[in-house]
Amino acid sequence: KNKIETLPDPFKIVEKELQPFSDSIKELVSTDQPILSMAAKHFFEKRHGKRFRPTIVQLMAKAVAACPPETMRGDRWEDTGASRINLEGGAVTTANHKDSDVWRKQGQLGQIVEMIHVASLIHDDVLDEADTRRGGEAVHKLYSNKVAVLAGDYLLARASVLLARLENTAVVQIMATALESLVAGEIMQLKSSPEELLQMTSYLRKSYYKTASLICYACRSTALLGGHAYGSTVATACEEFGFHMGLAFQIQDDILDFTAAADILGKPALADMSLGLSTAPILYAAQEFPHLEPLVKRRFKEKNDKQTALEALYKSDTAMDKAKELAKFHAQRAVDALLRLPQSEARDALLRLTYIVITRKK
Ligand code: FPP
Ligand code: FPP
Ligand code: MG
Ligand code: MG
Repeated sequence: KNKIETLPDPFKIVEKELQPFSDSIKELVSTDQPILSMAAKHFFEKRHGKRFRPTIVQLMAKAVAACPPETMRGDRWEDTGASRINLEGGAVTTANHKDSDVWRKQGQLGQIVEMIHVASLIHDDVLDEADTRRGGEAVHKLYSNKVAVLAGDYLLARASVLLARLENTAVVQIMATALESLVAGEIMQLKSSPEELLQMTSYLRKSYYKTASLICYACRSTALLGGHAYGSTVATACEEFGFHMGLAFQIQDDILDFTAAADILGKPALADMSLGLSTAPILYAAQEFPHLEPLVKRRFKEKNDKQTALEALYKSDTAMDKAKELAKFHAQRAVDALLRLPQSEARDALLRLTYIVITRKK
């Protein structure tokens, strides 16, 4: 048994707590427009995905409750706008966290994040013309593009209402910025210049916007809801964790696009090149085999481009390993950030989750 497997199992810890998730999500997304709630509910009920994001938020909520109240002097509480005071007027700590208003709001944040994520996936499959998701047909295939656009919009609108209900303007601002980042990432991906398509830094920046931003802002928001001040070391450690975790997650996702089969992924494989996108493995292959550069720049749009690039990737002894190293590098940075939080069961479960993210097969 390796050492990591002796750490607490992240999914087990939150299993019971995420149980009512489906029920309440059902309520949250029901409308008098059956087609919209059907499209939305469908995703939460039958094919609910890995639920990485609510799992992270839930664990982070527990991990920050175990943090010393470094920032909890009177003056600082006010400017977070958070209610880290329970009904009895005491600070929320691990001991009384579970029944607190703070805990309830952090749980809601997890739901909001998953709703935003699902909204973005529904839209993403329209943009990417991907026909499958989570092991079944994508929403736009089941219904139509029009319904998929509206279902995504609807989920986003509902998420905004729930976000406002947290009554924490700092958190609203941060999460609204996360939405802006998602769109910025997609646009970047769509509009990259040929030069940018070849650059590792552009690839990483785009990955930050489209993937890491949501989780890193969610992590900071969890700390703020927990009563930690905006600039506190706790909130910063949380955000840094989310940043590197998100990048590690996306790099692993891009590796799996080449190495895993569609039936395992529950979505199309080898999809990125078909969309004209070069991700870490191909970028490293292009560094080794410069004849790939023009192919990357023209988004593989000539006849044998994809085949040529794939062959080079499989021929390379280093490209895939370098991509794995890059994911590992960010996972290590995520771990470093976590280790700045005091030891707790939840923190250790997050450590294990980081390892799971870079070793996952789907
Ligand atoms: C999946 O990436 C997609 C995203 C991470 C973000 C998509 C964002 C938008 C469509 C902007 C609109 C946002 C909202 C909130 C409605 P991918 O295509 O690389 O991954 P995949 O292989 O899972 O499809
Ligand atoms: C599919 O998410 C979406 C993507 C691969 C786009 C990337 C978005 C993220 C990776 C967010 C960052 C997440 C973490 C955990 C740091 P998915 O594979 O989670 O889809 P699922 O919800 O259907 O499992
Ligand atoms: Mg896609
Ligand atoms: Mg996409």
